[in-house]
Amino acid sequence: MIHARTKSNKMTKIFVIDKKSRTFAADFQDKTNKRSNNSLFFLRQNIGKKIMGYNLLKGKKGIIFGALNDQSIAWKVAERAVEEGAQIVLTNTAVACRMGTISELAEKTNATVIAADATSVDDLEMLFSESQKALGGKIDFVLHSCAMSANMRKKRTYDDLDYSLLGKTLDISAISFHKMLQVAKKMDALNENASVLALTYVASHRTFFGYNDMADAKSLLESIARSFGYIYGREKGVRVNTISQSPTMTTAGSAIKGFDGLFDFSDRMSPLGNASADECADYCIVMFSDLTKKVTMQTLFHDGGFSNMGMSLRGMTQYEKSFIEENTDENGKIIYG
Ligand SMILES: NC(=O)c1ccc[n+]([C@@H]2O[C@H](COP(=O)([O-])OP(=O)(O)OC[C@H]3O[C@@H](n4cnc5c(N)ncnc54)[C@H](O)[C@@H]3O)[C@@H](O)[C@H]2O)c1
Repeated sequence: MIHARTKSNKMTKIFVIDKKSRTFAADFQDKTNKRSNNSLFFLRQNIGKKIMGYNLLKGKKGIIFGALNDQSIAWKVAERAVEEGAQIVLTNTAVACRMGTISELAEKTNATVIAADATSVDDLEMLFSESQKALGGKIDFVLHSCAMSANMRKKRTYDDLDYSLLGKTLDISAISFHKMLQVAKKMDALNENASVLALTYVASHRTFFGYNDMADAKSLLESIARSFGYIYGREKGVRVNTISQSPTMTTAGSAIKGFDGLFDFSDRMSPLGNASADECADYCIVMFSDLTKKVTMQTLFHDGGFSNMGMSLRGMTQYEKSFIEENTDENGKIIYG
């Protein structure tokens, strides 16, 4: 274990597992958040933020994967979990720890950061072992909030996938969930009735332009929740669920082609509007709490009603605007541009 100094000059504990991580730890000092936050949506999402706690997770210990910066859904979940009385370990890849601002979150939530790649069984074994030491006992809840598509990054379309990149997408975004469940079960690292959650998207079972191979990853992720949920529930009472979240302005979200349009469309189509990252965190807290002890193997929609809509008035109104005269030529034909 080594220590790194954060912006406010406090020491943060970081466990390192390889050379790269050591470099990350050395670079850790005075890291600033260089994210671009120019969207009005962020302002909207932050309005009405809840700060009250109900002690729903009092005495519980959790591991939270995937907090990259303060837009990450995992970041909001970490903050809410601690507000609700939990003790947490934060984890992300060494590179993400170096690039992101996880030290700020660690300081705020009094959490230990343990760098681990969610696709590496060795890293996961180290993570579950060190987390139990850091937290002083078995784990009560785990959030899987990891996803990445290298095909999307390289702008490969779904009918021109690179298969080795597809393998990476599936490993990072879905199989890692199986790996963490299997490692946790073999190590008996989770308490009876523990709650394990992963974040998913409705493109797992309906087709969305631009979601690419991540749709396949999300289908697999949800299937793993069902298959492992059966075994882990039967043997240990552990709940395994996925939460299907609205489009949310985060680093991963913004990587999706046409994301702004998808975000707006989804908001117009949902009677309650898009669910924000803060609201997603609230839902995760309830799922980690003892209030949901009999909920398992589910894909739980947290999307303002989007998944059950066909067409809304707001959606239809916007759609009709696309037929205004400026978009047609003198013969009334649509100009596609
Ligand atoms: N943003 C959205 O619109 C949206 C909607 C529905 C579901 N989700 C899901 O929510 C989850 C969190 O994403 P987010 O939107 O908060 O974006 P984010 O970019 O903040 O988080 C993604 C995280 O995955 C981590 N990650 C990537 N490879 C990893 C690896 N090998 N090991 C460990 N961690 C790794 C990244 O470092 C990052 O912290 C993802 O599963 C995403 O698909 C997002």
